[in-house]
Amino acid sequence: MTILVNGTLVTAEGERKASLAFDKGKIVSVGEITPRPEDEVVDAEGCYVFPGFIDGHTHLDLPVAGTVTADDFASGTTGAVCGGTTTVVDFATQYKGDTVLNALKTWKKKAEGKSRANYAFHMAICDWNEQAKKELPALREAGVSSFKVYMAYDTALTDAQILEVLEEVKKFGGITGCHCENGGLVTKLQLEQLSAGHTDTSAHPLSRPAEVEAEAVNRFCYLGKLTGAAINIVHLSTRLGLEEIRKARAEGGFPLYVESCPQYMLFDDSKYSLPDFEGAKYVCSPPLRKEEDINALKEAVINGEIDTIATDHCSFFFGTQKQAGRDNFTKIPNGAPGIEHRPAVFMTIFGTELTPSDYCRLLSTNPAKVFGMYPRKGSLQEGADADLVVWDPEKKWTISAKNQHQNVDYTPFEGMEVKGRAKYVFVGGVLAARDAEPTSAVAGTYVKR
Ligand code: URP
Ligand code: ZN
Ligand code: ZN
Repeated sequence: MTILVNGTLVTAEGERKASLAFDKGKIVSVGEITPRPEDEVVDAEGCYVFPGFIDGHTHLDLPVAGTVTADDFASGTTGAVCGGTTTVVDFATQYKGDTVLNALKTWKKKAEGKSRANYAFHMAICDWNEQAKKELPALREAGVSSFKVYMAYDTALTDAQILEVLEEVKKFGGITGCHCENGGLVTKLQLEQLSAGHTDTSAHPLSRPAEVEAEAVNRFCYLGKLTGAAINIVHLSTRLGLEEIRKARAEGGFPLYVESCPQYMLFDDSKYSLPDFEGAKYVCSPPLRKEEDINALKEAVINGEIDTIATDHCSFFFGTQKQAGRDNFTKIPNGAPGIEHRPAVFMTIFGTELTPSDYCRLLSTNPAKVFGMYPRKGSLQEGADADLVVWDPEKKWTISAKNQHQNVDYTPFEGMEVKGRAKYVFVGGVLAARDAEPTSAVAGTYVKR
């Protein structure tokens, strides 16, 4: 048995000074525990003990924009555990012509035996047809209870198709997330920018204004209302979108969850005007926004209007992959890395404006609840999985591509001085990282939900 002593246990409900024992991958007791000579004792003095952090939005080993994301499950989850994330919910993606069951098989193969963190899959449905509809119950049986649809990109579904997805997913109590951007408007606005000669990264946010997100959020909420199905607005980035969510929540009638990401609460769109193509490092969709959006999102986090904080980790090498769009911003692969730095960055942004319990709720407990993993994950209950983070809240360090484990040649958080770091990270009771360095353990397993 391993016993964490002298730490402060943190759950979404509160904090308490207590010991926690785990054995064979499960938490076996919490409280006053007297170690026996054969037990391994880990000193958590001065640290918080959180249930392992969960990143509910990652894109590992994803073929997209004519390339493949820089991080696969090996490097991505190495970064994850070094930062304190013990479970990722990645987007298995059904491409046109493929079946959803085959997409799950493909993604499981990508992750199996390689992942330092546990992994579950949302299914991104990009080709909705009779076959996909028929396969949903089998997908559910295989442990997939959350889905994603796109309103933009060549993976977009029509509104009618999204409505049908919501109806089908509702039948077994699942949840559907949506990339809320009006894809038709984005294409039109991109063409307008290009024909005006605006080919550099500063045109990226102009081609995807806040209204493009807010309109899509509004539409997705109405599809939720029409069906009564549970929906999740992913990577919310704007005040306007938030206002649509507030209206929908006030009307009620369906479960509505909201995810946002630290980058939208830290950076504004001035990054796209950086010289030497540096703006490409921040080209993600939705784009970075304005000060008023940053403030609105932060206020929403503090008010409890945002349910989960994820990364949308979708990494591409700046030196090679991002260069595809040097002469045309629409050709820059969209996405940025973050899987390794989310807990430290998020806690540094908010500091004492949020409590340790708030951090637990937003980074662990709520993702576990929203995505059907609670209380096995996201809790410190007896019988829960021993996915644990011993977090040193006082440790100061500087984020840099030089000390990261993500397989990418930059980080958008380069040079950021952060406070707080994972001291010990256990995945299923196995020590996966110590002082932000990985151990040799590759202990991640598939989370069947
Ligand atoms: O730019 C981004 N966010 N790329 C990842 C795919 C998505 O839209 O979630
Ligand atoms: Zn998206
Ligand atoms: Zn994404």
